[in-house]
Parts: sequence; C-alpha cells; structure tokens
Amino acid sequence: MDYTQQKVIEARKLLLSSERLKTLADKSDVSKAKELKELYQHIGTLPVEQRAAFGKEVNQLRDEIVEKLNSIQESDQSLEPIDLSAPFDINLSIDQQPRLLTAEHGSIHPLMRELATILDIFYRMGFTAIESRQIDDDYHMFSSLNFPAGHPARDDYDTFITKEGLIAPAHTSTMQNRVLKQYKSDLENGLPIAVVIPGRVFRNEDIDARHEHTFYQLEGIYVDKAIHAGNLIATLKTFLQAYYVKELDIKIQPFFFPFTEPSFELVMSCPFCSKKGCSICSQLGWIEMLGCGMIHPNVLTAADIDPNKYSGFAWGGGIDRLVMMKYNIEDIRHFEAGKLDFLRQFS
Ligand code: DAH
Repeated sequence: MDYTQQKVIEARKLLLSSERLKTLADKSDVSKAKELKELYQHIGTLPVEQRAAFGKEVNQLRDEIVEKLNSIQESDQSLEPIDLSAPFDINLSIDQQPRLLTAEHGSIHPLMRELATILDIFYRMGFTAIESRQIDDDYHMFSSLNFPAGHPARDDYDTFITKEGLIAPAHTSTMQNRVLKQYKSDLENGLPIAVVIPGRVFRNEDIDARHEHTFYQLEGIYVDKAIHAGNLIATLKTFLQAYYVKELDIKIQPFFFPFTEPSFELVMSCPFCSKKGCSICSQLGWIEMLGCGMIHPNVLTAADIDPNKYSGFAWGGGIDRLVMMKYNIEDIRHFEAGKLDFLRQFS
C-alpha cells in the first residue's frame, strides 16, 4: 500500500466514526471537512499522471460520506413519533421508566383540600355535589337565569366570550337550569332537590389582593314544597358554623339578583373577634359572605318546575374567600400563583 492510499484509508476511518458523522450532519458541504480538504490539497503534490486516479478516490470517499449522512437522516425521520400524552409505557416498572420529573412529591392544593371539607359538611346535610362547567353558553349564563337580552344586570358579569358565543362562566349559577331539570323527577317522587355545585369561574377583573380573574364558587340549590327564607338562613348558618367551628350570628340584607326574588346578601358575625372588630372584618364585626335568595319563579319555569307548587332557595359564594378568611390569607392571587412557599404551608 503506498503512502497516498494510506492517507485515504485513515481519512475514511476518521470520517465514518459516529462522533465525526454527528459533527458533519449540520454541514451543507461535506467536501469542506478538514480530512477531505487535506486529501484534495494533496492532489497537487502528486505526479501529474497519478492525480486523476487519486482525485477519483477522494471524490468516492466524499460521496460515501454524503450517502451515509443521508441514510442516517432518513432513519431519524422514520422513528416512531412520540405520543406526548404518554411518552413511555406507563406499565413499565418504576425503575424502567424515564426520570422526567423531579422526585419531589406534590400536594393537594389548599382550595381543593378545603373544598373536600366543605362538600363533606353539605353531604352530611343531605346535599349531592355536581361540578360546574368551565365553558358554557348564553342560555345557561343569562337567559335561563331571568336575565333578558340587553338587561343591564348582565354587565355585572363581565367575562370572556369566544367568537362562536362560548362563555367562560362568571358564576356557578350557570348550572341552576341543568340541575333543576336533572333532579325534577325527585320532586315528583316527594324528594327535595338538594345540590351543591363547586366550580371554577372567570371574570374580567382589575386584579388586586381581593380580585382574581379565575376563582372558585360554591352554588347551592334547594327546592321542595313550602320552602321559605327561614330554611335558607338556617342552612347557611349551619354550614358556616360547621366550617368555622364556631357559633355565629347571621343577618341578611336586601340585594338584587335577577334569578332570585327576594334576593339577599348574607352577612355573618366575624368568627375571629365575635363582633368586637378586628383586622379580618375591617373593624366592622360583620362580614359579607355570599349572595342568595328565593329562586325566581321564572327560573323554576325555565326548568319545567311549577312555581305554584314548589319553591326553593339558592346561594352562590366564593370558595377562595371562605378559605382566605379561615387561614387569614391576605392575597387571593396566592391561590393561582403556583408559589411553592405558599402551597407548602398547607401540605
Ligand atoms: N351568582 C351570583 C354571583 O356570582 C351569586 C348568587 C346570588 C348565586 C344569588 C345564587 C343566588 O344562586 O341565589 O354574583
């Protein structure tokens, strides 16, 4: 083997090593690889009669490298696409699964933990729970709740709407019509409708320590024969006392909602100072907790329930607010911020 052939063999070995091929993959012109360049430069140093044969050999090597790179690229493209929803076989044993996430354990979000407590109290009071929807329509957001088209009360529920008319619900009352229709047959069988509806709601808010664009509400509906406002007050008082583990005084003040008549704002004595006044109740001794009232006859009628035969009450209030009060959390934005130092206090 002469010296020039030896040079080609050495270059070929270097160029075909997988490490070197990786570095060549991005190069548009393989002939600029330093091993090939050296060989091309060597041509000029050869006796004229040898140059053509040697040049041909170097060109062959270049073509071989290009072909090799192409075949690598093709086989890369024919790899099976990764299913991002399950990037590995979930049935593999733990030690065979890729370590995609840090090993630290997560914990239940404080709102969801408190929600379980809240629902447990209502469950013991005979209520069933149904989660609200996170996308809804005009009928459930407004029309079925006695907001006629163009009614100014719609402005109090400024939320997000798509071009197709889908709405990010601004309250959990969107579920009233569905729940009333779904449980109507219970009334006919002599049973009350008793449902609580937790859910995520959205508003176009100026965000501050007390206002978030995304928060949680708990809606409640109770319908039977001869239901009156006294039942409403007793039910909510029982719940609030169980949640705050404290005897409380309750009062109601008049308010307006299109879907209740009469409508009220429910106010409770401050569970922390027993009406003496403290920083939590802004020195008032009382705290406005939620909106409520007797279900408007038009809302019952929209669900095919005869308002002359049945009556009921409903309420809706912020879950975030209930929880903030319980733990003296000063800023509602903590809940959605995903800050670990906040979340870990509740884990
Ligand atoms: N949906 C009302 C709001 O978010 C709260 C509310 C008031 C709900 C009265 C009710 C009700 O069910 O009867 O402002």
